[in-house]
Amino acid sequence: MEKLKTVKTQPDALRLLNIALEHEWAVSFEYTIHAYSMPKGEFFYDDPVMKLKTDARAQTIQIGIDEMYHALQLGIVITQLGGTPSFKTDKVIRYPKIIENLRRDKMTEDLVTDLYQSAEWEEGAFPKIQNMVLNISYDEVRHSRQFETMIRTMEEEGSTEALCFKETPDAAAREDVRLLHDITRMENELMHRYLKYVILFSEHQDLSQRLFKNSINHMRHWDKNSGILVKLGSVIQIENAVRDTDGVEKSTDPMPSFYPGEDRLSALETLIPAEEKLIAAYERLLNLLPPGEIRDQIGLHLGLNREHLFTQEWLLTNARKIKGLR
Ligand SMILES: [Fe+2]
Ligand SMILES: [Fe+2]
Ligand SMILES: [Fe+2]
Repeated sequence: MEKLKTVKTQPDALRLLNIALEHEWAVSFEYTIHAYSMPKGEFFYDDPVMKLKTDARAQTIQIGIDEMYHALQLGIVITQLGGTPSFKTDKVIRYPKIIENLRRDKMTEDLVTDLYQSAEWEEGAFPKIQNMVLNISYDEVRHSRQFETMIRTMEEEGSTEALCFKETPDAAAREDVRLLHDITRMENELMHRYLKYVILFSEHQDLSQRLFKNSINHMRHWDKNSGILVKLGSVIQIENAVRDTDGVEKSTDPMPSFYPGEDRLSALETLIPAEEKLIAAYERLLNLLPPGEIRDQIGLHLGLNREHLFTQEWLLTNARKIKGLR
């Protein structure tokens, strides 16, 4: 991660915010992947902030969501400053052992806390942004303490060798599993794509709130699909990852860095075919699954995406009705 010492001018502020944004996109993604790669309800720790016995997997997802909100905050402020938010991300890594991932997460938190807290701001130049960066940095301090306690607890309990889930050869060959991987990638892409438009339309509460709701729905589907993949003998994949001989997966390109649509009409126009494509994939998957819990859950995702399509078609139709609307 690049570091920026002094923030005096608007370009300095934009640079710091975009470095931070590329980091926040990557970690929101990386932590969630790490969580989805470990078992639910197996590794508990005493959370140092909440003072509760907490599932490490669940809290890692929660921290990933905090990072997504950080990304959103940064993106909105970059837009307000007249900049263009970056959708590139830092590198994402998954190690074979659960504890190795948590150690990386803790290290990342300390690195970003340093980025945020070591920036020197010209007095009075950007007081609100300086305040925001400081506030974010104390979320990172909390995250670091939480990861640290998870790691220590696993060490004390002799769980240092526990492995992440791995896809079985049988699951890898199944059509329903392959299709669910494709769908999960699409859900993730749409979650981020909607976030871009939330940022783009952040001065306009009606549009940004509606698009945010859809983004959250896609995030929930991403979450549920990851659990279903485990039930089917697989595990969430990292896009464009290369696996080395030690089984470490690395990707410098873990999610799209470009999303089409730069204004209201062009953004709304791109969402309809994307939702239609996702709906068609869910319909194919539904036909492959036997009756039961998994099929019911997939059916719910399909239904909600049909709702998205209905909403998006009307958002576009209504936007086209009003002359001069930008
Ligand atoms: Fe963060
Ligand atoms: Fe963090
Ligand atoms: Fe959708």
